[in-house]
Amino acid sequence: MKGIILAGGQGTRLFPLTKLINKHLLPVGRYPMIHYAIAKLCEADIRDIMIVIGKQSAGVYMDYLGSGHDFGAELTFRIQEEAGGIAEALLLAESFIPSGDKFVTLLGDNLFEDSLAGPIAAFGQQRGGAKVMLKTVEDARRYGVPTFERGQIAAIQEKPKQPPTNYCVTGIYMYDSSVFGVIRGIQPSARGELEITDVNNVYASRGTLTFDVLGGWWIDAGTFESLAEASRLTTKKTRRTEECTER
Ligand code: G1P
Repeated sequence: MKGIILAGGQGTRLFPLTKLINKHLLPVGRYPMIHYAIAKLCEADIRDIMIVIGKQSAGVYMDYLGSGHDFGAELTFRIQEEAGGIAEALLLAESFIPSGDKFVTLLGDNLFEDSLAGPIAAFGQQRGGAKVMLKTVEDARRYGVPTFERGQIAAIQEKPKQPPTNYCVTGIYMYDSSVFGVIRGIQPSARGELEITDVNNVYASRGTLTFDVLGGWWIDAGTFESLAEASRLTTKKTRRTEECTER
């Protein structure tokens, strides 16, 4: 399976730091943020990886990552000209995924403890469709929130004012190549973006959206508070990160 890391976006909640450098290059513990998503894919033995970035700091990604050799990975870069949502960024990776193949997508600002090896293997056995990773959280209003029916995700609400459950849909998604057709079929949301939640809801309505729940820590490092917390958590876990990347 191939992997896609989405690292576009403007990082407005981290302004003015993100005036200087793209959010996914900000320091988290000992490494720039982007390091962790690559390490997580490598840990699950996914080494053929496309990273979708914005124009900002494009050269700095090359400075740090090069070809991916230090990770034992092969990296391909695509540029998203303007922030148009997660689903639009994913569409840029269409030519990277052979028709009929399955792949894993990570949002570059999602940092987490669990290995994805098990869920990815399970998705490999799944007939098709999609799989999302969930996490129980205290402030579900900040995220996509699922509702369940008969043990399956019935639908996902994006940032609901009154969350129906205390689960959030993390930025860890698995799809088959049908997702690109699904993205083309959705309309921009009120904020003018192609929303990944709308994509996932198409699979939920078809009954082909499965899920797993993360047991370890998970954080969306998009705010100053969560960025600081991410540094604390990853510093604790630095040894495992090094085991995976320093080959
Ligand atoms: C995005 C998704 C949301 C998901 C979150 C996870 O939100 O739209 O459904 O829960 O990532 O990090 P964003 O952080 O882009 O607002």
